Amino acid sequence: VEEEKLELRAPIITFMGHVDHGKTSLLDAIRKTQVTHGEAGGITQHIGAYSVFHDGKPITFIDTPGHAAFSGMRARGAHVTDIVVLIIAADDGIMPQTREALNHAKAADVTIMVAINKCDLPAADVMRVKGQLQEIGLAPVDWGGDTEVMEVSAKSGLGIDSLLETMALQAEVLELKADPKAPARATVIESSMVEGKGPVATVIVRQGTLKVGQPFICGPHWGKSRALINDRGQPIKEVRPGMPVELVGFSDMPHVGDEVVVMDSERSVKKLSIERLEELRQKKLTVTRRST
Ligand code: GTP
Ligand code: NA
Ligand code: MG
Repeated sequence: VEEEKLELRAPIITFMGHVDHGKTSLLDAIRKTQVTHGEAGGITQHIGAYSVFHDGKPITFIDTPGHAAFSGMRARGAHVTDIVVLIIAADDGIMPQTREALNHAKAADVTIMVAINKCDLPAADVMRVKGQLQEIGLAPVDWGGDTEVMEVSAKSGLGIDSLLETMALQAEVLELKADPKAPARATVIESSMVEGKGPVATVIVRQGTLKVGQPFICGPHWGKSRALINDRGQPIKEVRPGMPVELVGFSDMPHVGDEVVVMDSERSVKKLSIERLEELRQKKLTVTRRST
């Protein structure tokens, strides 16, 4: 892609960490919602994606579940993101899913930051957590290392502004760009069957501008973007790079991690879908023959 076609895009920041360390609560605090509602305090079951504006520029956030059973989602979260923020409860310290999330982030080679949450608690022990971070190769900047470690509380609001500021700065350093005029490509981060809508996916646009009415291929399935719904539940006409959106119009259930690629005609996406489905069928036949 020629340099002059590239424009700054929204950074994608994923919150990861051990169960109940406060990922959803912190995202709620960042979105300045007055009350923590819905799943805060419960077990996060899916990936949520939202964008907020900071200094007039959008930042996309992805929430992931901390439950041990959702390792796959953490792995995928690490792969679509630019920055992983490890959320660690100050009273609990580094736990198994904190380490697991760190490993996914390292494998995906993304920027890693840390937010030590629940600093309002009397049992908070920031020094202990920093010591643990040092041990696993995430020495904090104020200890002479190079990991940004922020002290925050989703409950009291402590450090939320500087967390947002630091995340924005880290993203700026990365100079993330995309070509908004290229054919749109988007990654599926979650999918589900919705009554009246059929298969629906949350996608993050990686390149180009995804518009209503465009035919696309996604894995072996084709589709046409019937509707685009933003994180506030509003229908929108188009989505720019780095932004999340709910996409309606799949011919069949898309897989998480698959890429939606816009093509010029319905004929070409349907033709490609038939070819890919046939390829899959052949592969399955081969596997069946081998195993019998
Ligand atoms: P999973 O998605 O299930 O992994 O949890 P999570 O990391 O999203 O944590 P969640 O936001 O659901 O918060 C877990 C519990 O910790 C809830 O009861 C929150 O109210 C509480 N909590 C979150 N942040 C803070 C904080 O800064 N201080 C205190 N005291 N409690 C907090
Ligand atoms: Na929780
Ligand atoms: Mg959660």
